[in-house]
Amino acid sequence: MTLSTERSTNEKQIAVVGVGARSEIAHHVPIAMPGARVVATVDPATAGRLRSEVMFPGMPAYDAVTTLLASESIDAAIVTTPDDTHADIAVELLRAGVAVYLEKPLATTLADADRVLQVAAETGTALYVGHNFRHAGVVRRMKEIIDRGDIGTVKTVWVRHFVGNGGDYYFTDWHADRSRTNTLLLQKASHDLDVIHYLTGGYTRRVVGMGDLMVYGGVTDRRERPGETMPDWFSFDNWPATASTGLNPVIDVEDVSMMLMTLDNGVLASYEQCHFTPDYWRNYTVIGTEGRLENIGDTAGGTVKVWNRRREWAVAGDTEYPIEGDPSGHEDADLATMREFLGHVFHGAPTVVSPLAARAAVAAGALAAESIREGSRPIDVPSLPPEVLDSFLARSRS
Ligand SMILES: NC(=O)c1ccc[n+]([C@@H]2O[C@H](COP(=O)([O-])OP(=O)(O)OC[C@H]3O[C@@H](n4cnc5c(N)ncnc54)[C@H](O)[C@@H]3O)[C@@H](O)[C@H]2O)c1
Repeated sequence: MTLSTERSTNEKQIAVVGVGARSEIAHHVPIAMPGARVVATVDPATAGRLRSEVMFPGMPAYDAVTTLLASESIDAAIVTTPDDTHADIAVELLRAGVAVYLEKPLATTLADADRVLQVAAETGTALYVGHNFRHAGVVRRMKEIIDRGDIGTVKTVWVRHFVGNGGDYYFTDWHADRSRTNTLLLQKASHDLDVIHYLTGGYTRRVVGMGDLMVYGGVTDRRERPGETMPDWFSFDNWPATASTGLNPVIDVEDVSMMLMTLDNGVLASYEQCHFTPDYWRNYTVIGTEGRLENIGDTAGGTVKVWNRRREWAVAGDTEYPIEGDPSGHEDADLATMREFLGHVFHGAPTVVSPLAARAAVAAGALAAESIREGSRPIDVPSLPPEVLDSFLARSRS
């Protein structure tokens, strides 16, 4: 596409596609890169375009990406739409030469994930998948401990995910509907599957899963919520899960999912997710040949404990490291992620996140869901076509 010659080289025009709860990350744009600014938004819903007037005042709000592309000269787009729309939107933007920040998960099926990577490889347009959890203080701390060799060579990782806000976050709108998300092993777990890969340096080769819809399926108080987005119904008083009200009319994703993974480097990993716990955090145990680490809490105020002396059990680690960053949520990681995206697109800076890794997270989550739904059949992850793989490997080396 031709960019306006009247713009200074520092001026970067960004569009936001999907003006819902997550589009707030676009407010990091001018902080992450002076000269970059949001110039337009897209949302097919009237309520989304009305939100745009409040969140991005004065910016034109289009009803489709096609209209945006026909009307504006943009350098990059931040895509914060529901998961089932990611692949088609990314493909349209990539083909138009617009660099894409695509929210995780990359796609809801492995075929769609591969379609997006194929188009990114063909066009050479920058694709960045917003796996912001890699930038979270708890992950940075665990990675630093592992890379220093404090627990030896990593052999196994066990992640327990207590999704206490699950009813509000995932069972009150489109997230609960398989046709929109496929599985919460993508929508929610893709962060942790990606981080398991990141911490261990391997990708999942084989998965097996077990899970069920155990609680929310029995809640009959359901309704559509036109015009509302997640913060509108969030409350700690929505408890216990069995007393939930106003849930999504369609609920067919699992609320308990458990999966086992064999990685291509021999590491064995497990991930367990429950959406009706009282508390909301994830707990990693990483065991190496010379010790183990475990996080208690996953935001600032929490600790990563390392045990690397032979002993009976002890609450205290041999060494304990504070978790830094925000005391709640992940705004700090969101800013770091936006900075990385813009730095990569406009200055060619290297990234900690990677489209290949995003594909590996989709593969693990989507195939584990398939395994859950097919009697816990083990499933092998198919390889990417070699030309697509080579294209991304060449980019990461350049
Ligand atoms: N990385 C993170 O930490 C994190 C956190 C929250 C959400 N997310 C991701 O952000 C995405 C959006 O989630 P959300 O909670 O904001 O959802 P949401 O429902 O609040 O908002 C989605 C918006 O996209 C709009 N939309 C739907 N189809 C569209 C299309 N074809 N083109 C343009 N807009 C369209 C909807 O009208 C809505 O306004 C999801 O993929 C989710 O996984 C990531």
